[in-house]
Amino acid sequence: MNLSELNKVATAMVAPGRGILAADESTGTIKKRLDAIGVESTADNRRDYREMLFRSTEGMSKHISGVILYDETIRQNAKDGTPLVKLIEKAGSLPGIKVDKGTKPLPFCPHEVITEGLDGLRERLSEYRGIGAKFAKWRAVIDIGAKHVLPSYTCVKANAHALARYAALCQDEAIVPIVEPEVLMDGDHDIDRCVEVTTWVLKETFQELFYNRVVLEGMVLKPNMAVPGKKSPKRAAVQEVAEKTVRMLKACVPAAVPGIAFLSGGQSDEEATAHLDAINKLGDLPWRVTFSYGRALQAAPQKTWSGKTENVAAAQRAFNHRAMMNGLATLGQWKADLERKAA
Ligand code: 13P
Repeated sequence: MNLSELNKVATAMVAPGRGILAADESTGTIKKRLDAIGVESTADNRRDYREMLFRSTEGMSKHISGVILYDETIRQNAKDGTPLVKLIEKAGSLPGIKVDKGTKPLPFCPHEVITEGLDGLRERLSEYRGIGAKFAKWRAVIDIGAKHVLPSYTCVKANAHALARYAALCQDEAIVPIVEPEVLMDGDHDIDRCVEVTTWVLKETFQELFYNRVVLEGMVLKPNMAVPGKKSPKRAAVQEVAEKTVRMLKACVPAAVPGIAFLSGGQSDEEATAHLDAINKLGDLPWRVTFSYGRALQAAPQKTWSGKTENVAAAQRAFNHRAMMNGLATLGQWKADLERKAA
């Protein structure tokens, strides 16, 4: 393993002012997104949509350090025949690839899932590396559930183990792993319950990473923030989210990890930006802290585009705007005023 190369890529992924665009929706998920804007989910339409994002020059070159792709996308060419991977590289961004195969029910653990995809992973990583992937992503999903019944020990342990096996394989194949243990925002739990479960999940994850000999300097962590469940009657202020998130992460994430890139997880665009900004405003963090957003970067351009050629420029402006807002948030320099001015 060439640790200095892995560390160089991981550091570039979390460079100041920049973050990651998660454009790795599976065929089923992207269909839902396209259905919502009245666009048929064909391979060409999926390509056109993503090509539009990757050609958003301003946002891509200044604020997007890397793009997570889906298997179909990493193999696609732009309309003019240029591989999409080359478009991303030309914009000064790193191509990455989602390598998990999604979730399946976990036996004897009702309502819980395990992420699959370890079989044949070494060979797939090696192929993706040949196509140009510099980093990979694997998402584990943990549900808090109602009445504090979940998660089960089985679910936390099995998912942490799979994440660590994946991360070790990535590093052995010269690819930087994004380790994503997502504690879902679904439910009516309060922020403190989110902290309690996320702390457990992160501790198990780093324990398994250690047992599997993953080198922390050559990975990026993609966690959820400490937030209340979507249906919780007890909302949390931006400052409370920032302080509880940082306290939780400091207790769980070794300083050897170069960077943390949050998922947005169903927060609104502006919430995701405001929270990231408040976290960075706290300062004195042992790691770089940035974004790896899917919905919070794409909801606005998707709506603006709605599948119409005449909307492409406006959709790219919407994407550039979100990329810039989140870029500022990585520096703790975002202000709500900047959103109003753009509106
Ligand atoms: P969201 O930001 O929409 O949660 O997506 C990020 C992601 O890549 C989830 O795996």
